[in-house]
Amino acid sequence: MRFFVNIDHVATVREARKTDEPDPVRAAVLAELGGADGITVHLREDRRHIQDRDVRLLAETLRTPMNLELALVDEILDIACELAPHQVTLVPERREEVTTEGGLDVVSPGTVDRVAAALRRCRDAGSRTSLFIDPDPRAVEGAAAAGAQAVEFHTGEYAHAGASGRERQLDRLRGATALAREAGMHVHAGHGLTYENVAPVAAIAGIEELNIGHSVVSRAVLVGIREAVADMAAILRRARQGIR
Ligand code: PXP
Repeated sequence: MRFFVNIDHVATVREARKTDEPDPVRAAVLAELGGADGITVHLREDRRHIQDRDVRLLAETLRTPMNLELALVDEILDIACELAPHQVTLVPERREEVTTEGGLDVVSPGTVDRVAAALRRCRDAGSRTSLFIDPDPRAVEGAAAAGAQAVEFHTGEYAHAGASGRERQLDRLRGATALAREAGMHVHAGHGLTYENVAPVAAIAGIEELNIGHSVVSRAVLVGIREAVADMAAILRRARQGIR
């Protein structure tokens, strides 16, 4: 099982002030030192968190594979093809959404052709291709027809299901995983996974990669705040004592 850390929300904090900290590129180094098998970033069309500079620097400096998430937008596809990261994951994107809601449409006839063409471009550029889809049989069929090498199942419905709905959502994930493997695709999963809810998903044998972001960045803020405050307090004390 590969654990890819999504560092988008390190950039979210930076963009809240449009400054240069915290730098997601530095966060990526620390995530790698912590044992991440790869780093995931989503270069959104509206650039609300990750910026072009981040993706370029990550492409140059990562020691682990980069998984670049992108929507079917020509400008972003051009960047993906130029940088040719280890892996690209096509995702849906709506400007008004807070985060990626639901998987990519790989069922409507017009969309399938566009998805297939984008996958071909990314694959020709040298990237492994993945499609972020709902864990549904029709979506799995559509992903296979579009020529995806891997699918990433959206675990949002599992994450948001109450205790009574969880088992049904896990069954959906298990069933879709089996179908995707039969169709010759690799299986990833992610979205909304937390320290509390990840274990049953991680236990599904056919899932090879998990992408986890918000919960990891949230925990990093909490486990790091004590030290961060102590560091600033020490600077303030020294300043008052006239020590530089
Ligand atoms: N996978 C995909 C395709 C995503 O779009 C996201 C959110 O950016 C994630 C995984 C990670 O979700 P979360 O931040 O909730 O862990």
